[in-house]
Amino acid sequence: MKLMLIIGARPQIIKSAPIIHEVLKRNEIEFQLVHTGQHYDFEMSKIFFGELDLPDPIINLGVGSGTHAVQTGKMMIELEKTIENLKPDMVMVPGDTNSTLAGALTAVKLQVPVSHVEAGARSYDMRMPEEVNRRLTDHCSTLLFASTRNCFEKLREEGIKKQQIKLSGDTMYDALLEHIRRSEKTGILKKLNLQSEEYAALTLHRPENVDSPERLERIFKAFTSLKNLPIVFPVHPRTRQELETVKVMKQKAAVDQIELVEPIGYHEMLQLTKHAKMVLTDSGGLQKEAFWLHTPCITLRDTTEWTETIELGANVLVGSDPKKIVEAAEEIMETNKIKAKLQKLRNPFGDGHAAQKILDFVLKWRQGGFR
Ligand code: UD1
Repeated sequence: MKLMLIIGARPQIIKSAPIIHEVLKRNEIEFQLVHTGQHYDFEMSKIFFGELDLPDPIINLGVGSGTHAVQTGKMMIELEKTIENLKPDMVMVPGDTNSTLAGALTAVKLQVPVSHVEAGARSYDMRMPEEVNRRLTDHCSTLLFASTRNCFEKLREEGIKKQQIKLSGDTMYDALLEHIRRSEKTGILKKLNLQSEEYAALTLHRPENVDSPERLERIFKAFTSLKNLPIVFPVHPRTRQELETVKVMKQKAAVDQIELVEPIGYHEMLQLTKHAKMVLTDSGGLQKEAFWLHTPCITLRDTTEWTETIELGANVLVGSDPKKIVEAAEEIMETNKIKAKLQKLRNPFGDGHAAQKILDFVLKWRQGGFR
């Protein structure tokens, strides 16, 4: 069977790594790795291929940045040629980026079956481009791989047939288990002069936050009132320019407290997350990684697709409300042995063998094991 996997943005490389390694073990699959080029900076793409021991894509479409329509449209034009040329039996798309949607739409219109990894995640907030991407992708997929029972149920509620869905677990968890030990060698804490559990790790890149100067101002003002909390902030390229407009970031207190660094690699980020007192983020993936590493998470969004982490008490939604941000952070700082408590929680994201289950299911489908 010919299986094409389409990736393009940073988190997709991480969530695909366990699948790629599993595919390469299976002789019955001819593998085609396609990169759309949505992310193109070394530290947004190439660095992860090295860290995760991944083969080079057979083609990089070099689509780059643009508005949603321009970016998605360009991807579809290039993907149509690529799919027609390489004739895959199935196109697999992970996650919820514009590359995910472009891959799914192009394939389904060429009548090539689509499989979606990380299906059924829902924030029910259609202002988020990712929510649009994952909903549409789910509804043009033949096979859907759900990270959690909750994702499975959401797909059923939307009328997707049980036979199409596999509760596989989350491939980001597979990747984390594979890499956490290796990541200990990075020396990132020493490099940034940090002490374990004495700092917060921050990431911020969602348009709803970074494209609104008022929202950014509010968020950073709240951070600077947390005087005893050094913050490390690997800055996404999307965010860097917008930060220039944030007045509070020019003040000495903020400069002393918040350390801005370039985007860092996967291994460094795992260590930074594992040793942080807390994670402050608007990323979807980092909410899960913090959960697996038993680090409390404060999510700077109004909604999340990973509601499991909220229900289990490991994550709290604060939006951009300064009062909520400060209260949540203070509570974490004042709670004794918080990581030991989080360690005891059940993990709804599978057993670390999601990639295996995904490929078993794909092959079963291919052999006509169910219709
Ligand atoms: C994309 C995904 C988001 C994911 C994120 C991870 C969509 C709609 N969003 O958001 O779900 O969480 O990736 O990082 O697909 N840029 C660079 N260099 C790069 C890539 C981007 O400088 O290598 C800059 C460009 O100015 C670009 C901006 O970042 O315009 C945004 O990039 P884009 O790929 O459009 O979306 P992300 O915000 O990265």
